[in-house]
Amino acid sequence: MAIKDAEIGVIGGSGFYSFLADARAVAIDTPFGPPSEPPVAGEVGGRRVAFIPRHGADHRFAPHRVNYRANLWALRALGVRQVLGPCAVGSLRAELTPGTIVVPDQLVDRTWGRAHTVYDEGPPVHVSPADPYCPRGRATVVAQGNELVDGGTMVVINGPRFSTRAESQWHAAQGWSLVGMTGAPEATIARELALCYTSVAVVTDHDAGVEAGEGVTHAEVLAQFGKSIETLKSLLTKVVAELPSTDSDCACHHCLDGLPLPFELP
Ligand code: ADE
Repeated sequence: MAIKDAEIGVIGGSGFYSFLADARAVAIDTPFGPPSEPPVAGEVGGRRVAFIPRHGADHRFAPHRVNYRANLWALRALGVRQVLGPCAVGSLRAELTPGTIVVPDQLVDRTWGRAHTVYDEGPPVHVSPADPYCPRGRATVVAQGNELVDGGTMVVINGPRFSTRAESQWHAAQGWSLVGMTGAPEATIARELALCYTSVAVVTDHDAGVEAGEGVTHAEVLAQFGKSIETLKSLLTKVVAELPSTDSDCACHHCLDGLPLPFELP
């Protein structure tokens, strides 16, 4: 695959390496440093897809250490305009049980200290993430899955620790459905780069405020994510086949129109 020849990007767990056929790594640097790993570019169902393991191939980057800017910039530099962001989340609602796949429609960013914008220098560039997820991407995912939950608000905490019971009860009391550690600033930086971004969240546990007991454990999250990965991969294979082509127009591609960008986007 030549440079600029990908159309769909996936940022997810390293289990997604096997998602791609005829894959090869593409060395790429960005103004924000290297991505978590060189993107791997290949084919899925006849579509050109580039994949980056969010936490690195060996899971060396904790959620607050992921170079979200570099990952998204690198995908854009390869030609990607649609990004799918599968992630593990805790559930803030009793009815959203482990294994459930949710396509959130809103986001609350409670992270701090992360490099959260590509417009750090130069004249201010104010981009709106009012509706942070791509409407066409969301609709495509929702149409492919029989048992998906369509909508819900994901709150993103800084991690790497889980929430206290009081934090978790507070999140639930706001009416939010899911809690994760990587959904922000990934979604908002994607918007800053005029990329379509769709989150596909797999519930791995009930967060501490929902269930009495010990609270969430790392082992529980990993075990449930391991159980869900094949379902997630087959869902995303169907989604990739159905996503609109790069050439077709989307509001996400126009969010920077008329703004004074301090650099050219790749
Ligand atoms: N990722 C998976 N489970 C989580 C939880 N309970 N809180 C935050 N992030 C998570």
